[in-house]
Amino acid sequence: MAEYPIHEYDVLVVGAGGAGLRAAIEAANAGCKTGVITKSLLGKAHTVMAEGGMAAAMGNVDDRDNWRVHFADTMRGGQYLNHCRMAELHAKEAPARVYELEAWGAIFDRTPDGRILQRNFGGHRYPRLAHVGDRTGLEMIRTLQDHAIHQGIDVYAEHTIVILLMDGNRCVGAFGYDRERGRFKIFHAKAVVLATGGVGRAFQVTSNSWEYTADGQALAYNAGAALLDMEFVQFHPTGMVWPPSVKGILVTEGVRGEGGVLRNKDGKRFMFDDIPDNYKSSTADNPEEGWRYTQGDKSARRPPELLTRDHVARCITREVKAGRGSPHGGVFLDIAWIKEKIPNSIEHIKKKLPSMYHQFKQLADLDITKEPMEVGPTTHYIMGGIQVDGDTQMSSVDGLFAAGECAAGLHGANRLGGNSLSDLLVFGKRAGEYAAKFAKERWAGKLDQAQVDDAAKIALAPFERGAAGENPFAVQSELQNAMQGLVGIVRLENEMQQAIEKVSALRARAANAGITGHREYNTGWHTAIDLDNMLSISEIIALAAIERKESRGGHFRDDYPDKSAEWAKYNLRVTKGGDGRPKVERVPVVPLTDEMKLVIEENK
Ligand code: FUM
Repeated sequence: MAEYPIHEYDVLVVGAGGAGLRAAIEAANAGCKTGVITKSLLGKAHTVMAEGGMAAAMGNVDDRDNWRVHFADTMRGGQYLNHCRMAELHAKEAPARVYELEAWGAIFDRTPDGRILQRNFGGHRYPRLAHVGDRTGLEMIRTLQDHAIHQGIDVYAEHTIVILLMDGNRCVGAFGYDRERGRFKIFHAKAVVLATGGVGRAFQVTSNSWEYTADGQALAYNAGAALLDMEFVQFHPTGMVWPPSVKGILVTEGVRGEGGVLRNKDGKRFMFDDIPDNYKSSTADNPEEGWRYTQGDKSARRPPELLTRDHVARCITREVKAGRGSPHGGVFLDIAWIKEKIPNSIEHIKKKLPSMYHQFKQLADLDITKEPMEVGPTTHYIMGGIQVDGDTQMSSVDGLFAAGECAAGLHGANRLGGNSLSDLLVFGKRAGEYAAKFAKERWAGKLDQAQVDDAAKIALAPFERGAAGENPFAVQSELQNAMQGLVGIVRLENEMQQAIEKVSALRARAANAGITGHREYNTGWHTAIDLDNMLSISEIIALAAIERKESRGGHFRDDYPDKSAEWAKYNLRVTKGGDGRPKVERVPVVPLTDEMKLVIEENK
């Protein structure tokens, strides 16, 4: 193994967003030598795109809230495909994780009597999102980063992992390269935690930045781990649609949580046109009541803009398709209207939504205190990911753990906004704790020279093909078009079949990708390597989406527009078959305990 430097760890964490940092803190505190690898710079993570808050039933604004209501809301939002044990742990442990973050220095907005303020978000029965304006994810990352660097953790910024190293069915480390110099490194570890985030860069319109190329999901799948729920991709209803250069950038749900309303080009609040039966009794049927709800009136019902994300995104798509959209292919999101309701509305908007104010002012030359924003759905999150044990977060591969967006289970068919940040804290901590325990109980496994040599050879092959090879950026762009157009918000079997054919053709082209130049900071080379992950996982998303013949949560099929009682019983698991192809199987949903059934019944 002499050719490349070897770095030895008890616990290696791949990813430095909220889940990765929280896992690393826990592992280091347990006395483990811990390394963290981040593809980007420390502090730059999709976590910051959870702007509006972290969901935790602290009951600071409405004392009727507690873990039981949060659990029931999460299960209902996920349409009961959630791993119920994870939903229970999440609802019970989220408040402690938020208070811990506060103790580590996080600043939150406050209630008049000095408690952490909580705001409304879609699908949450009570105001539940602890927040700091619309910069909550940023505050969380800042706090975790400050805390982590004092725990003696080694950080490898701007490093990419290309394979997990295996000793039989045991993960014993990872092999990757330093993006700045393009040199390979071996990380030998007793336990590995994947916390690499999502897959947004396989789609054309996304809130995800360049790092999110399905790395963790693909690394785990290639190492033999099972993936779950991959058909469930979340299209956040509100991303920017104009100007084109910023299309997809997130417009926080916090705008609607603060009273923002959606209108079509005729000025109509179209969300009133389509309120699902099971939400009818809890949705305000007049605008005045909805507004009172957002202002904390306990007797009011919520506005239809705070229905779950999957539903709102589909309603927006319907308006646009029917020709009732805004000039640039979205709809209008209006928070300026509150000037009719509250004095000092301009100051209020700037205080509660400072990033949105600046984002629109600087990127679209629009003042959100005076004019409505143009918004439309953007690929934001994947509910599916690496299948893990609910308590320990270990995958089906020994010594390989996963937490945060790259893991599956908590959110089922649809994630409630704000549940991501608390997910990162609750399950990041658990992954770090159990990875540390695993590392303490086991010897380091054996490294295998052949695995490293093969991976290095494959990674360097694009240099040999040079300018005669395929342009990796062109391949990625075609993949993004195919996934957006054929496996997007509204799906059809024949379109998804076309997507699979397209992915297969792109795979052949990616295998022939060529790049010029040297290994230092060569983004063409980096993309050529990332392509394999994006293509594998895109195909898996399409295969799972074809298999699930119903509509549920983030997965809507025009050819099967209803929920099916039969499909309610199953999650879809994907593993690499003996022929090297993805094998999609139905597995029974984790059964609810009697107490959980009671909690759900109580909170219907
Ligand atoms: O809209 C938002 O602020 C996003 C939050 C989330 O995805 O949890």
